[in-house]
Amino acid sequence: MFLLAWAIMFLSGAFGSEEKFCEKGDFCITLIKEVTGEAGLCVVIPCSYETDEQFTPRHMVWYKTKDQKESRVFNSDNDKDTKAGFKGRVSLLEPDVSQRNCSIMINDLTESDSGNYHFRVKGNMNGKSDGFSYRKKTDVSVSALKQKPSVMIPPLTEGQQVTLTCTAPGLCSGSPPKITWMWRGKGKKDSNIIGNTTALKTENLTAFTQRHSSTLTFNPTAEHHNTKLSCTVSFTAGPTVQEETLKVTYARKPQISGRASVKEGHYLNLTCSVDSFPPSEIKFSRKLIGNVLQEVNASYYITNATRGDAGLYICTAKHLNNTLTEEINVTITWFSGILNTSGCVLKLELLTCVCISEGFPLPTINWSLPLDHTEDSVTVSGQAVRSTVTQTIKSHENSSVKCFSSHENGEAEKKLTIQNLPDESSTVPWMEILIAVFIGAFIFILLSVIAMKYYRKKLKKSGNSVETLEAIAPDDPQSCSGQSVNKAQGEVQEGAVNGALSPELNSVSNNLTYATIDHSKLNRHLEKEDNRMENETEYAEIQKKTQTC
Ligand SMILES: *[C@@H]1O[C@H](CO)[C@@H](O)[C@H](O)[C@H]1NC(C)=O
Ligand SMILES: *[C@@H]1O[C@H](CO)[C@@H](O)[C@H](O)[C@H]1NC(C)=O
Ligand SMILES: *[C@@H]1O[C@H](CO)[C@@H](O)[C@H](O)[C@H]1NC(C)=O
Ligand SMILES: *[C@@H]1O[C@H](CO)[C@@H](O)[C@H](O)[C@H]1NC(C)=O
Ligand SMILES: *[C@@H]1O[C@H](CO)[C@@H](O)[C@H](O)[C@H]1NC(C)=O
Ligand SMILES: *[C@@H]1O[C@H](CO)[C@@H](O)[C@H](O)[C@H]1NC(C)=O
Ligand SMILES: *[C@@H]1O[C@H](CO)[C@@H](O)[C@H](O)[C@H]1NC(C)=O
Ligand SMILES: *[C@@H]1O[C@H](CO)[C@@H](O)[C@H](O)[C@H]1NC(C)=O
Ligand SMILES: *[C@@H]1O[C@H](CO)[C@@H](O)[C@H](O)[C@H]1NC(C)=O
Ligand SMILES: *[C@@H]1O[C@H](CO)[C@@H](O)[C@H](O)[C@H]1NC(C)=O
Ligand SMILES: *[C@@H]1O[C@H](CO)[C@@H](O)[C@H](O)[C@H]1NC(C)=O
Repeated sequence: MFLLAWAIMFLSGAFGSEEKFCEKGDFCITLIKEVTGEAGLCVVIPCSYETDEQFTPRHMVWYKTKDQKESRVFNSDNDKDTKAGFKGRVSLLEPDVSQRNCSIMINDLTESDSGNYHFRVKGNMNGKSDGFSYRKKTDVSVSALKQKPSVMIPPLTEGQQVTLTCTAPGLCSGSPPKITWMWRGKGKKDSNIIGNTTALKTENLTAFTQRHSSTLTFNPTAEHHNTKLSCTVSFTAGPTVQEETLKVTYARKPQISGRASVKEGHYLNLTCSVDSFPPSEIKFSRKLIGNVLQEVNASYYITNATRGDAGLYICTAKHLNNTLTEEINVTITWFSGILNTSGCVLKLELLTCVCISEGFPLPTINWSLPLDHTEDSVTVSGQAVRSTVTQTIKSHENSSVKCFSSHENGEAEKKLTIQNLPDESSTVPWMEILIAVFIGAFIFILLSVIAMKYYRKKLKKSGNSVETLEAIAPDDPQSCSGQSVNKAQGEVQEGAVNGALSPELNSVSNNLTYATIDHSKLNRHLEKEDNRMENETEYAEIQKKTQTC
């Protein structure tokens, strides 16, 4: 009952409260002064009446008066005399006559339905047919249709099928309206090919109120975002349209614009954008060594790119709960030109040239040489290219060696200077050997002198002196030869002076005892020192005591 009351209030623009008017004794009617409706919809005229106790109601009749012309619009007895345009459009809300409820609903309103409506009850009074027309009227005014269909759009997400509902205005039980959906793409003309629509759906709310609706099922895409969708409800009196702008939640992959390869010193301009609805939160970050992320603006601009700006840049777009990423590998190209460490060396008529160039990507090197080069090696270390050529030439005087390096960032050429190295390969070792020999000899002699001195001292101490030699010298007349003695003496004396060798006491077969000192290693430089040593030592004579010479 509550729903019904609400429905009636909703359907009818009922103005003012119901008022009861009594005429001729107990014949009273309760009406409201004015109701309004819209063309195509319906209107309810709330009504109740009372009669004389002697009167038994049988039928209800409604009339409309307009411009002094009265026409019958409803007759519960029969609709023969009913005005043509009203046939089938007017119905009682309460068909039970005994309820004395004269409320009617007029469906499929047209503006010409406007007018004053009044009620007549037909029945029996004291056994005789009778009727009573109430004079009080309700003013019904019908205006053009202003109410629009209501379109229910749940949240639209790309790829998730969705059902939209369009409900016709009014809850009238009149002729069902025609509901059509239209989709207007961006810059395209109306089209109704967007999805599947259901046929009209009618829902009985009460015996005399109905809700008409249609659904549209489709799969939203980003293409539908910001396009217009309309629902048109066509009543007998004309159409009413509701248009809605579709908002589709979607996100495209982030796009990074800007050159990924930049010349050193040029500008680097990276911009990350994401086509999405609602807009995404965009962040740029840069992957540093160790996967550390350094935050950069969504738009990254530097006027003077350096090698250090190369690397992986990651655009992260946070769209609702999703995170989308896109990467760009920025390379900075650079070229050092030909390094100063490049050059040529000429040695033994062999010209060796080295040309070094650095850059990213690696530069290439070629040569311009007096002759065809015989050997070529290219080594790469890091970002440096090192090219080596070797060739045999007679003279470098008029030789011109040029090295060219080319790179996408530019080209470089350099005339290499030739460093002429003297041919020292044979002299240098000889000199060294000679010096080494001299030094060696010096050390040897020095050691020998020291050793000899030491030996002499030891001889003295132990009593094994020169005199001892006399005692032990065997008598051998045959070996008594002055020559031998002289020789021995001379040698000993020489040896004492020079001390190059440790004196050796040789016992020869002919019993000649002498000391030999090889003085071939005699060194003049040591003379002084040795003379001094001679003064100190007192062993420098070995006397050969012959038995009988
Ligand atoms: C008349 O009948 C209708 C429908 O049953 C009802 O909604 C309305 O309240 C009734 N009017 C009166 C005055 O009882
Ligand atoms: C709604 O009511 C009409 C008559 O009033 C009836 O023909 C129809 O079957 C009903 N529809 C539903 C869904 O109840
Ligand atoms: C529309 O209906 C057809 C056939 O019933 C079905 O194949 C199609 O998938 C439907 N389209 C949508 C968007 O629901
Ligand atoms: C960087 O590039 C974007 C588009 O890619 C452009 O709109 C912007 O003006 C550029 N910035 C500069 C400073 O050139
Ligand atoms: C981000 O851009 C703004 C405006 O262009 C600038 O002021 C700011 O310094 C930038 N921040 C970084 C980290 O580059
Ligand atoms: C670019 O940067 C380099 C190194 O930081 C600097 O030597 C050079 O002068 C800069 N050039 C400009 C145009 O700022
Ligand atoms: C997004 O996250 C919030 C809270 O974390 C959660 O309530 C919501 O359901 C999520 N939405 C989607 C579409 O996953
Ligand atoms: C970026 O590009 C450079 C040059 O093409 C390449 O050496 C490097 O491995 C790339 N880095 C990544 C992370 O792809
Ligand atoms: C290389 O040579 C050029 C020209 O002779 C000079 O200007 C530059 O300073 C040199 N560079 C080095 C690192 O020696
Ligand atoms: C070396 O390269 C330069 C520039 O790329 C070119 O002009 C020259 O002809 C080349 N020389 C040789 C010998 O290939
Ligand atoms: C070098 O060139 C000059 C002039 O061109 C010439 O007089 C001279 O003989 C040349 N020297 C050699 C070693 O070819």
